[in-house]
Amino acid sequence: MRIIFATGNSKKLEEAREYLEPLGHNVELLTIDGQPPDFIEPQSSELMEVAISKSEQAISMLSESELSNCAILVEDSGLFIDSLNGFPGVYSSYVYKTIGLNGILKLMSEERSRHGEYRAVTVLVMNGTRIVKTGVCRGKIGEDIFGEGGFGYDPIFFPEGANGLSFGQMSKSQKSTFSHRGKSLKALSEAITPPSM
Ligand code: IMP
Repeated sequence: MRIIFATGNSKKLEEAREYLEPLGHNVELLTIDGQPPDFIEPQSSELMEVAISKSEQAISMLSESELSNCAILVEDSGLFIDSLNGFPGVYSSYVYKTIGLNGILKLMSEERSRHGEYRAVTVLVMNGTRIVKTGVCRGKIGEDIFGEGGFGYDPIFFPEGANGLSFGQMSKSQKSTFSHRGKSLKALSEAITPPSM
């Protein structure tokens, strides 16, 4: 299937390709006049609402004929830290750009519980039908920065069951076996793959 991913994040695109291309899907980036389009971020505390709004915006940018031969993929995600009542959550992107990893480590310096989770909501629209899937990855916030891989909060996030490796220390394929994005993409690909006879 030809899947057009509406994202401005090249790392998310790489992760979606890592997961979906071996399953036979071709993942392209949505561009308008050669650039990923800007989306209006709805004021919402729910990833699902944000992802659905972005999928509707993406669809409105394409013509009927473009939509007839592809599926549109949108994903919204964030890091939710238990002891900070889910902060930065839907504001993850803004918080990363403003206070960064060191700002989060500072906020966490007095916290004894370092549990948290990444969440992803993935929306695929094909032939006018919308499929929405979610993925969660539980883990802990480290006490320092480990590794240079991935993006965003990966160097301070240690997923459960990964033998003490941060996402920042993993290859793309390792990350995708644990990640919230990998799980939501897995659920999506199962939903669009007909059961084998
Ligand atoms: P959005 O989904 O584009 O609004 O941005 C989500 C933000 O959450 C990203 O900019 C990152 O800061 C953070 N985030 C979401 N998923 C990940 C991930 O897999 N690794 C690291 N940071 C992530």
